[in-house]
Amino acid sequence: MSRILITSALPYINGIKHLGTLAGSMLPADVYARFQRSRGHETLYICATDEHGTPTELAAAEAGVAPADFCADMHRVQYDLGRRFGLSWDHFGRSSSPQNHRLTQRFAQTLWESGFIEERVTQQVYSLADKRFLPDRYVIGTCPHCGYEAARGDQCENCTRVLDPADLIHPRSAISGSTEIEIRGSKHLFLRQSLFAEKLRGWIEGKKGDWPLLVTSIALKWLDEGLQDRGITRDLAWGVPVNAMDWGPNPDGVLPDAAGLAEKVFYVWFDAPIEYIAATWEWADARAQEAGRDPASDAEWERWWRLPEAADVTYVEFMGKDNVPFHTVGFPCTLIGANERRDAEGRWSGVNNSPWKLVDELKGFNWLDYYGGRFSTSQGRGVFMDAALELLAPDYWRWWLVANAPESSDSSFVWEQFQAQVNADLADVLGNFVNRILKFTETRFEGVVPDGGEAGPLEQKLGIDVAAKLAELTGYLEDREFRKSTTALRQLWVLGNQYLTEAAPWTAMKTDPARAAVAVRTGLNLVALFAKLSEPFIPFAAETIALAVGEDFPGRWPEPGQPLEILPPGRKVQAPEVLFRKIEDSQVAEWIARFGGAETVAEPA
Ligand code: 2FM
Ligand code: ZN
Repeated sequence: MSRILITSALPYINGIKHLGTLAGSMLPADVYARFQRSRGHETLYICATDEHGTPTELAAAEAGVAPADFCADMHRVQYDLGRRFGLSWDHFGRSSSPQNHRLTQRFAQTLWESGFIEERVTQQVYSLADKRFLPDRYVIGTCPHCGYEAARGDQCENCTRVLDPADLIHPRSAISGSTEIEIRGSKHLFLRQSLFAEKLRGWIEGKKGDWPLLVTSIALKWLDEGLQDRGITRDLAWGVPVNAMDWGPNPDGVLPDAAGLAEKVFYVWFDAPIEYIAATWEWADARAQEAGRDPASDAEWERWWRLPEAADVTYVEFMGKDNVPFHTVGFPCTLIGANERRDAEGRWSGVNNSPWKLVDELKGFNWLDYYGGRFSTSQGRGVFMDAALELLAPDYWRWWLVANAPESSDSSFVWEQFQAQVNADLADVLGNFVNRILKFTETRFEGVVPDGGEAGPLEQKLGIDVAAKLAELTGYLEDREFRKSTTALRQLWVLGNQYLTEAAPWTAMKTDPARAAVAVRTGLNLVALFAKLSEPFIPFAAETIALAVGEDFPGRWPEPGQPLEILPPGRKVQAPEVLFRKIEDSQVAEWIARFGGAETVAEPA
């Protein structure tokens, strides 16, 4: 048994997530976590809401509430939706937690004292009307690259170029619309990422062939373009305050300008990945509280994050491709920097004998599009998690989203294709198999697993085929090849149907009842097996199936070579209600009218 730490990119707090976000991080992480748990590994799946930054302040202002209240509400909403989708987080934390405040400040202090953070005065947009600095999206103006007139200070939506608010032509405030703006100097902290370029390159090069090509190529592209130092503070009120009062001198003997930094908070992309660690701390605290103990000791959560205790942990991250630079460059700089120290001459040495653990496996995804256009939170295009659950049970979505995971390229959600695939796989193949064999057992074997009869060549062949497919499925899941794993699972379900058709217990019943008993028993054992193997993908249906044949849920993933016959003869079984109702054409028509289809969603990818 080993330990597996899993994180999925933290969803921004500012709205309900669409299916694209689910497909490219939280759902595959959940499938993987369920798989690893069922194999008996100690598994910790951590996620949280990403609560800081200008989008949060702007969304809260639009809703007319304080950011703290807005975040508390939206955290509850996102937690609830995730649970209803079956996301089996061990903890779903909040980047605004006290634990994250403490850790973020602690990391920054260490990085300062180790010589990896420096102060710089930067030119910021200041609004005279609003009496405040306007970072990131608080400024709107004309893009200096393409001339788009509504470019935001952090990025131009039209040409996608990353911008600095001070670059905008004709800048105006997003708060008041005022153009009474001037550029003023403001002191900020910069993480000296450029110093890490060589170390990071060596590390990423070593991951080639192990991590998806998508991931290593994005990371190396960033390194090839030359790593820039990065501003990690902002002139905002909502966030983790810098609070540099207690910081010691850097290796040159210089103290930070605590007064000049007093009004600043950390940039959201600095504190968000630290929340992976802080949420583990929140998890440990919550467990301590449940057990009626004092708050967790550092050792309880550090055992997942710091070497040498975490040496047996495999840390796996899941995210969309836009997040890859922050996880292969930004966050690793924070962690590596906190393990090291630069002296006044610029020489590095390890500073702690308990270094932070870096990611071992990074699974990145392309985009899931909606009819070839991007799902869009700001424009409300596509299907969002709350609406999806109004239409159909979560397993329909889970199955389709994993089976069509945007792994090697972008993939596209199209209603008709969704309908065709879930009807075929879930209703015609799995649902039909489970129903067929259980109904027959009820009518002809009094709902009991039959005894007697000997396995023949048909069962032997089935055993060989199932073992081979099972090995394939297990291998794909270990490698986080999600599409391929759904193909292997579907093929297992198909083997079940083929077997029943060939063994035809309904015919054997008349001439050879012992043969019919073998076929029914074999079929019922396949049902039990399918419940275990389907659990990571469609946990709700898998539970119904397991209960139908009296098995524990969730079950244990079968070991290679383990006998497939597990149900004791004489066990009572019962056909479940219809597992998956087919999606009708009329429903599809209605949903296209509501959410848009090929005719109405025209934006190119
Ligand atoms: O892109 C996003 O949705 C970010 N909120 C992901 C953050 S991941 C992590 F670093 F916190
Ligand atoms: Zn532009």
